[in-house]
Amino acid sequence: MSFEKESVMPEIPYLSERPTPDEILSAGFAAAGGRVSLASSFSREDVAIIDIASKAGITLPVFALDTGRLNEETYEVAEAVAWRYGLKVDWQFPERVAVEQLERVKGLYSFRESLDNRHECCGIRKVEPLNRALVGLSGWVTGMRREQSVTRTGVAPIERDAAHGGMLKINPLVDWTEEAVIAYTEANRLPVNRLYAQGYRSIGCAPCTRAVAPGETERAGRWWWENPEHKECGLHRR
Ligand code: ADX
Ligand code: SF4
Repeated sequence: MSFEKESVMPEIPYLSERPTPDEILSAGFAAAGGRVSLASSFSREDVAIIDIASKAGITLPVFALDTGRLNEETYEVAEAVAWRYGLKVDWQFPERVAVEQLERVKGLYSFRESLDNRHECCGIRKVEPLNRALVGLSGWVTGMRREQSVTRTGVAPIERDAAHGGMLKINPLVDWTEEAVIAYTEANRLPVNRLYAQGYRSIGCAPCTRAVAPGETERAGRWWWENPEHKECGLHRR
């Protein structure tokens, strides 16, 4: 990581009791004091953040992790969003040799066989590229919300990311409900991933994501063969 532990760590800024997403973004940018970028999977949340930043006059660079296993619909919405906001997305791809090695030795679906194998695949396709994307940044923005899962109830609007050298992690929609995100994207006619219309509520890699049935939890379609407390890929280690 280029974020040096010896350098002065940014302070977590003071926020009002119910900060709006643009207040969180502005305070996070000011506190980070250096380059800040949005990590985008082009989820509804990420597109809402891009729209909110654009309307608030905040220049928000965007990076995205192309795991090599994303859905076609995700690439389509990524291009639509980039075109609409004039973005040059900083796409990050996994290390070629690591992916080749994984696929040759363990096949194309090793992640279904055990939690260790799943973490290995996420490590190669997501976590290592994320670490590269964060080089040179003082903070990163995510679309995480507390309501999303049992693993995210403790997320703060602005927090120190201990997993990445203490840089700032800025989560402007932390308190929004899924309904609020949908209402925002609809009211502002934002481009959204077509998979939402097919019953998906949280979208990651194609082989590890499916639509959810009525009554199931929001992230039930992610790694559906695993327990809820395991449903993280390592991007958001706490
Ligand atoms: S994940 O860790 O389980 O995949 P989730 O899909 O809920 O995360 O997304 C939460 C946030 O993580 C997104 O709003 C985005 O900020 C970031 N994120 C997730 N996947 C990617 C990706 N492929 N590229 C960039 N950012 C991502
Ligand atoms: Fe691999 Fe699935 Fe993780 Fe994507 S979500 S990196 S395919 S294990």
